[in-house]
Amino acid sequence: MAVEPLIFELSKPGRRGVRFPQSDVPAVEPPAEMQRESLMWPEVSEIDVIRHFTRMSQKNHAIDIAMYPLGSCTMKYNPKINEAVSRLPGFANLHPYQPAETVQGALELMYELQEMLAEIAGFHQVTLQPAAGAHGELTGCLIIRAYHEERGDTARTKMLIPDSAHGTNPATAVMAGFDIVSIPSDDRGNADIEALKGLLGPDIAGLMITNPNTLGLWDEHIQEIIKLIHECGGLVYNDGANFNAILGIARPGDLGVDVMHYNLHKTFSTPHGGGGPGSGPVGVREGLEAYLPAPRVEKDGDTYIWADPAKSIGRLHSFNGNFGMFVRAYTYIRMHGAEGLRMISEDAVLAANYLMARLQDRFDVQYPRTCMHEFVVNGTRQKKQGVKTLDIAKRLLDFGVHPPTTYFPLIVPEALMIEPTETESKESLDYFVEAMLQIADEAETNPEIITSAPHNTEYKRLDEVGANRNPNQVWTPAAD
Ligand SMILES: Cc1ncc(COP(=O)(O)O)c(C=O)c1O
Repeated sequence: MAVEPLIFELSKPGRRGVRFPQSDVPAVEPPAEMQRESLMWPEVSEIDVIRHFTRMSQKNHAIDIAMYPLGSCTMKYNPKINEAVSRLPGFANLHPYQPAETVQGALELMYELQEMLAEIAGFHQVTLQPAAGAHGELTGCLIIRAYHEERGDTARTKMLIPDSAHGTNPATAVMAGFDIVSIPSDDRGNADIEALKGLLGPDIAGLMITNPNTLGLWDEHIQEIIKLIHECGGLVYNDGANFNAILGIARPGDLGVDVMHYNLHKTFSTPHGGGGPGSGPVGVREGLEAYLPAPRVEKDGDTYIWADPAKSIGRLHSFNGNFGMFVRAYTYIRMHGAEGLRMISEDAVLAANYLMARLQDRFDVQYPRTCMHEFVVNGTRQKKQGVKTLDIAKRLLDFGVHPPTTYFPLIVPEALMIEPTETESKESLDYFVEAMLQIADEAETNPEIITSAPHNTEYKRLDEVGANRNPNQVWTPAAD
């Protein structure tokens, strides 16, 4: 007899893992039209639930299991103290409708986080509202638009964006009503400054630049670029997704950047969690604070209050943003202090350069100059041996390592974008190198083992297109 594994359909009528306490308020019968026959919830015991989620967690890779060198996304370890602090009842049990005088501690934490983020990146004021990097970009673009509109400078419709940018940059600029003009990269991986000069004019609203960029490189002309944009009347938006490379070393505000988002779920170690909830605060230079989203926490004497900036672009998030993320990022910053933050970036940059140095004989690094916190391999050499970057990524799973980002940035053929982060030990970096070197050998001698990978994982190659086209994300009870 074939034994069916216990996988998903665990529900049995009447089985339960939770008992609710007796109600201490009078029962009210909801109107008939609001009542349902069944909630269609799975009925399971506590141990079923625990086993189900434990099994699920073992089917996938996680930063808590092994290295997760996902370039551009900074999948760094989330220290457990962040979780402990965010679960303190005084934070976890708050309700967003509570009056400000009853949540002074929470507002103080938000105020201090705003101040610390402003200080770390050299900005005047910060909003914590946006829920992700992309949301921060939209916020920044709306601020840039409001700034020009207020000055009656409405002919500024174009946003310049380097071709190495993350797709969210053009997407959010378009959502904010701008036309996109792409800047090519030069042969050292910078935004091509000569091409940029040819694009400047009275129709330029601004520039969205990622620095360090998504090739893991510091733009060697950043100060000149910022000067040029300002001289032509535009504003500079810095995509701060790569801020992990420069904490305590360089402050975008000091370089002349006008607006920037921070990714708390990258640089400041809050969880990424399957698309959210993240947090993408936005900092602005002096003179732009009046446009920030409303409300913002401010301090009136010893009291923390909600205040609406004078020319606010409005509200971008329900309630006050993802508060649990603020607690975690605050804890992380306080735990490290100024010196610790600088050490994070120094270690992240060192780790990336170490990997690049050890791999560059066997893999072609697209721009072989000192990198920041990540670097990009061009997989064309391996492709000629019959092994695509996708295959290398799948083979890495056999070594228990999450693959780096693949096929991004789009300007690098067969791109493999490697970001080890500061939290990996030398042993774990060396393990990754050995796995990659073995894959380089296999590409030469036994490419089939790579093209048919993964071999050791519970699931083999998935039908990713099918999963996209026919997603099955909602549990419905099996028919009896
Ligand atoms: C360079 C860059 N910009 C923007 C984003 C968007 O950030 P988020 O995923 O938080 O929306 C990312 C992340 O994926 C990124 O790598």
